[in-house]
Amino acid sequence: RPTSLTLTVNGELRTIEIEPSVTLLDLLRERLHLTGTKKGCDQGQCGACTVIVDGKRVNSCLQLAIMKDGCEVVTIEGLGAPGDLHPMQAAFIAHDAFQCGYCTPGQICSAVAMIDEGHATTSDEIRELMSGNLCRCGAYTNIVDAIEDVLS
Ligand code: FES
Repeated sequence: RPTSLTLTVNGELRTIEIEPSVTLLDLLRERLHLTGTKKGCDQGQCGACTVIVDGKRVNSCLQLAIMKDGCEVVTIEGLGAPGDLHPMQAAFIAHDAFQCGYCTPGQICSAVAMIDEGHATTSDEIRELMSGNLCRCGAYTNIVDAIEDVLS
C-alpha cells in the first residue's frame, strides 16, 4: 500500500506517495526523474548509485526510500550545474577523470562526501576510501588526481 514520504532532494522539499518496497535509487530515477544517479549492479557492489544523505554517502540501491523520511538527499544534479560546477565536477573535467562517464556521478558524490568526512589525505587513503566506486574503464589514476586536486 502506498505510503507518504517527505524528504528534501537537492534543496527542495518533496512529498511523495510510494510503495514501501521502492528503493531510494528508483525513487530518484523513476519518480523524480533525476537520472544522473546511475543503476549499475543494483546490489551494492559498484557505487554507481551513490548519493549523499544527511552528509554521508550511501548506495541508494540498497536503501528503501521510505527509510529516508525527513532526510536531506543530494544527487549529482544538486552539486552543481553547467556554468556553476562544484569544484569536484570541475576537477574531474580538468583531469579527464572519466571515459564512458557511467560511474562518474557516483564517483563525484562519493568523493565530495569522503572529503567532508575528513579522512582522506594521501593518494593511498583516497584509493582505499573510494574503493566502493568501481570504474570499468579503469580511470582510477585520473580520478585520484582529481580528488587530490580538490583536497590540496
Ligand atoms: Fe547500487 Fe551498484 S547500483 S551499488
